[in-house]
Amino acid sequence: MKIYSIGSFNIDYFYSLPRFVGAGETLSASALKVLPGGKGLNQSVALHRAGARVIPCGLVGRDGEMLIDVLKTVGADASRVKKTDLPSGHAIIQVDAAGQNSIIVYHGANFAFDEAYFREVLADAEPGDAVVLQNEINDVGLCIEIAKEKGMRVVLNPSPFDDGIFSLPLDKVDLFLCNELEGASLTGETDPEAILAAMAAKYPGDVLLTLGGSGSVYRCGSGVYRHGLFEVPVADTTGAGDTFTGFFLFSLIAGESPEAALRTASAASAIVVSRMGAALSIPTMDEVKEFLQ
Ligand code: RIB
Repeated sequence: MKIYSIGSFNIDYFYSLPRFVGAGETLSASALKVLPGGKGLNQSVALHRAGARVIPCGLVGRDGEMLIDVLKTVGADASRVKKTDLPSGHAIIQVDAAGQNSIIVYHGANFAFDEAYFREVLADAEPGDAVVLQNEINDVGLCIEIAKEKGMRVVLNPSPFDDGIFSLPLDKVDLFLCNELEGASLTGETDPEAILAAMAAKYPGDVLLTLGGSGSVYRCGSGVYRHGLFEVPVADTTGAGDTFTGFFLFSLIAGESPEAALRTASAASAIVVSRMGAALSIPTMDEVKEFLQ
């Protein structure tokens, strides 16, 4: 089974600060790191490092060689990532003393997707293959429709959340991967149990909900499964959700039980938050197994 990971590629600017900047305030950063990221690139790397047969797809600018290089460095297929004349997407990420983040994202080339590109990269997709999408590129709805025409399974991480999500064909999503805030925005509920119940009432797809410090919960046809959080010293939470997505999906596809998939994904996320950065901080499956021992 092939997984087409179609999403954003960003140059991430990480500013280390004692706390997030307030309105009208200027703070001096103690460090700046420029690293590869973007939800699409991060999830592609996570899927690849987990062991999946992933086909990363995305658009970068002339300045995006460092983003393509990440795929080459980890040994993933970079052949479908295209260069455009627009600047690459970028993110300005404040990281506070507790490792929490606050992100501004500028879409750049990530908003240059069109039907021709989706059809080109999905040309060899077969029924049963999967497409993984987030909300950091344009025309996500069109991509979902094309994937469904081909009999593919659709996985959606509705992040970053905005009202445009509601205009997507959400009834065609097979699996939602969201955090508590995204789940709340989708349903109007705040309690995790109520979010899961409302999602089940509104949408046919399975739901994986990450709950920050309370771990994660997965609702699918066979039941509801939960896992707690592995406590680790936090350096930077950026990319934790993307890492969870990649390892959880691969584990399910590889035939692991839902409980085991949650455990593996939680461990991978714990490793990534103990490191600064996104794409290059994502562990290999061997590192995850070692952590779990
Ligand atoms: O999910 C983390 C990512 O969100 C960062 O790498 C940043 O690029 C933003 O897109």
